Amino acid sequence: MDIFAHRGVSSHYPENTGAAFYAASKLPITGIELDVHLTADREVVVIHDETIDRTSNGTGYVKDYTLQQLRAFDFGSWYADEFVGENIPRLGEVLELFAGTHHRINIELKTDVFSYEGIETLVLKEVATFQMTERVIISSFNHESIQMVSQMAPYIETAALFAEILIDFTSYTAQIPTNALHVSLPTAFRKSVGAALEKGSIVRVYTVNDTANVKELQQLGIDAIFTDDPEKMLATLQGN
Ligand code: G3P
Ligand code: CA
Repeated sequence: MDIFAHRGVSSHYPENTGAAFYAASKLPITGIELDVHLTADREVVVIHDETIDRTSNGTGYVKDYTLQQLRAFDFGSWYADEFVGENIPRLGEVLELFAGTHHRINIELKTDVFSYEGIETLVLKEVATFQMTERVIISSFNHESIQMVSQMAPYIETAALFAEILIDFTSYTAQIPTNALHVSLPTAFRKSVGAALEKGSIVRVYTVNDTANVKELQQLGIDAIFTDDPEKMLATLQGN
């Protein structure tokens, strides 16, 4: 079963920062997951929330700041004093960090609250610049974003994110041209997910931090997990 470091190694470093991604780049895991939003000057930046309130020493919406303005805030001190000085990464900076590694990069387009018109094109441009086409997976809870990516770049792997799944995923893929399904942990045990697996869909599960769940998911045939603590999950899967 593949392991993706969720927002980097977010169990030991401030999420979605250079420190969290650098730590992940040193691990023998499949890849990382990160979240992207768009700034006022149309830079693609890596952060989970629409606002900077929770993960920085500032307040306000990402979309209302330019990149330069965002760089004045600290994105490490909220987590621990030793991380003072961490800034908000541009997507390109994270892709560059992984340019020389084997890791896959799951870019989650956070277009479910604000649509950030054109973010799909900007992300695809960055992926092409860093020659990451074969290593990225682009996902979103906003399936219109996934449709757009599939139309613009059918050669890129995409995934539909679900917090809950009450539909037949395999017939849904007629509308959303993706074969991969990213589901929340409780949802992974639903019949609809089992049916999708049987029909050959790729299923990845978020966010798995309890070792007790790992073996169960492996038995179900789940392809991958997103975890905040990839080293712990690696040890569990290796039987240590
Ligand atoms: O991409 C999987 C997972 O990260 C989706 O939920 O809220 O952690 O971005 P969230
Ligand atoms: Ca995410």
